[in-house]
Amino acid sequence: MARYDVVIVGAGGAGLRAAIEASMDPNIRVAVISKVYPTRSHTGAAQGGINASLGNVIPEDSPESHAFDTIKGSDFLADQDAVFFMCENAPDIIYELDRWGVPFSRLPDGRIAQRPFGGASFPRTVFSADRTGHVILHTLFEQALARDNIDFYNEYFLLDIIHNGVRVKGVSVYDIKNGEVLNIEAKAVILATGGFARIYWQRSTNAVGNTGDGVAVAFRAGLALKDMEFIQFHPTGLAKTGILLSEACRGEGGYLLNALGERFMKRYAPEKMELAPRDMVSRAIEYEIKEGRGVGSGTSAYVYLDLRHLGEAKIKERLPQVRQLAIDFEGVDPVKELVPIRPTAHYCMGGIHVVNYRTSATELEGLYAVGECACVSVHGANRLGGNSLTEILVFGKFCGISAREYAKQVDWLPLTEAERKKNIEFIERLMNREGSEKLADIRKRMGEITWEKVGIFRDERSLQEAYKELSELLERWEAIPVVDKSKIFNTNLVEVLELRNMLELARVVAYSALHRKESRGSHTREDYPNRDDKNFLKHTLVYQRDDKLVIEYIPVSILKYQPAQRTY
Ligand code: FUM
Repeated sequence: MARYDVVIVGAGGAGLRAAIEASMDPNIRVAVISKVYPTRSHTGAAQGGINASLGNVIPEDSPESHAFDTIKGSDFLADQDAVFFMCENAPDIIYELDRWGVPFSRLPDGRIAQRPFGGASFPRTVFSADRTGHVILHTLFEQALARDNIDFYNEYFLLDIIHNGVRVKGVSVYDIKNGEVLNIEAKAVILATGGFARIYWQRSTNAVGNTGDGVAVAFRAGLALKDMEFIQFHPTGLAKTGILLSEACRGEGGYLLNALGERFMKRYAPEKMELAPRDMVSRAIEYEIKEGRGVGSGTSAYVYLDLRHLGEAKIKERLPQVRQLAIDFEGVDPVKELVPIRPTAHYCMGGIHVVNYRTSATELEGLYAVGECACVSVHGANRLGGNSLTEILVFGKFCGISAREYAKQVDWLPLTEAERKKNIEFIERLMNREGSEKLADIRKRMGEITWEKVGIFRDERSLQEAYKELSELLERWEAIPVVDKSKIFNTNLVEVLELRNMLELARVVAYSALHRKESRGSHTREDYPNRDDKNFLKHTLVYQRDDKLVIEYIPVSILKYQPAQRTY
C-alpha cells in the first residue's frame, strides 16, 4: 500500500496544473494517477484555443466583458461569482503558460495572437494553430516531470474513493498493466478525470476513454451530481465519424452552408452568424436538416462547412489539423472542397457538485473535483468554446493550492482491513461472473438511446423511455462476463467497468433532463420550448440514496447580470 499527502486522479490539464501547484511545497508528496499515459489525456484533443481577455487584438476587451459573454452564453445558469473569478484569473494563466514554454501563435509584433470564437464580444481566444490543448498538455507534463515530489501512476483505473462518510481516506485503483488492486492512503484527493460525452457512444468528439470514471465513482460514494442535463453538442463534427473540426474554422472565417448553398445562420443569429454560441448553431443545423435543407436525410444527413475562401496558406497555417482530419476521415480537402459536418456530443457542463469555487472542494472533506468531471458552475447551460481550457487551468491551479494547504493541516486516516479487501474481492467477483450479455451490444444500444432520446431535442416521452431503457441496460450490465481471463492489460475488464460508469451517468442525464421542464442553453425540450426563470433558474442536484435517484435544487449565484433574452 502506498501513502501520499495529495493524490490526483487524472493527468489532463486540470490534474497536471493542480499537481504542479500541490508540489510547490517540497515536503508534500503528490501522486498523479492516470488511466492513460498523461500525454494521451483528452486535453490534447482541444483544438481551437483558450479564452483570456488579454486585449492583444482589441484593447477594449476586459475580464468583465469575458464574464458577461460567459454568463450570457450559459443562458444565465452560470454562478456569476465563479465566472468572475475565472475571467479575472485567466490572463495570468496564459502568461504563466507562455513562460513555461507553450508555443502560442503570435501577432506580427510578437505579442500572443487571439482569434474570434463563438459568443465572444472580442477576439479573445489564445491559440497555437489548431493544436492548443496538445501543446498545453505537453508543457504541463514537462513541468510536472521536473518536480521530484510528484510520482506518476500511469495506466491505473479508478475503482473507488475510500472515505468514512465525513472525510476522504484514499483511493482504490486497478493496475491495468498487471491486474492488481492498489489502495492508496491520502490526506487529500483531487478528481480530475474529465468528462463523459462518450455516453453518446457512436457520435462524440471525445476520446474513447472519456467514460466519466471519476464522476461515477463520486456518485456511488454518495456525492451529488449537478446540472447533468446539460450536454454540449459541438456544431462541426465530421459527418461520418463525429470527429471534432474546431470552432476555429468559423473563428477564422469559415461558413456553414445548407444543401441550397445558403449561409443559413442568417435565419437564427443574424448578427453573429456562424459565431453564435454552440447550442444555437447546433440547433440551427438540426432545424435545417429537419426542414429538408440538409444533404440526405435521417442519421446520415449533414450540412457543409466551407473553408475554401480562406485560401490554402491560411488553412495550412491556422488549421493544419482540421485539414488533415477532413482528408483522412471524410475524404475531402477543405482547401478545395466542402466538408460534410453535423453536431456531435462534445462536452458535459454538469459533473461533481463543487461547493466552493475558490478551492474546488466537494461535499466530502478532503475531496476536490476540478475540470470537466466537476461542475463548478461557470458554464451553466451552455459553455462558450475556448472556456474549457480556461476553466481547467484556473481552477486546477487554485484547487492544487487548496489541497496542498489542507494536507498540511491533517493526518492520514488509516484504512481498515475491510476497506483494503473490498475492491480486491470486487475484481475477483467480476472476473469470475457468468452471463450471456455482450458488452458491445449494450454499449451500442446506450449510444442509440442517448442520441435519439436525450439528444439535441428531447421531450417528456423520449426522456421517460430513455430513463427506463437505460435502467434496464444497467441491470443487464450485471450479466456481462469478462471473457478475457488474463491479468496483463485486460482491456476487456476495463471496458466492462467503463460501461457501468457510462450507464449510470447516462441515466442521471436522462433523469435530470426529465425533471427540467423548460428549454435553456443546450437543453431543448420540444414540449417546453421556452426558458422558465420563475421555476427553473436553479441548479439540479441528483443523489443516489438506497439505489434510488433523488433530485434537489439549489439557487444560482446572480451577482451583476439579471437574466435577459439571448440574442446574437
Ligand atoms: O472547437 C474547438 O476547438 C473546441 C474548443 C472547446 O471545446 O473549447
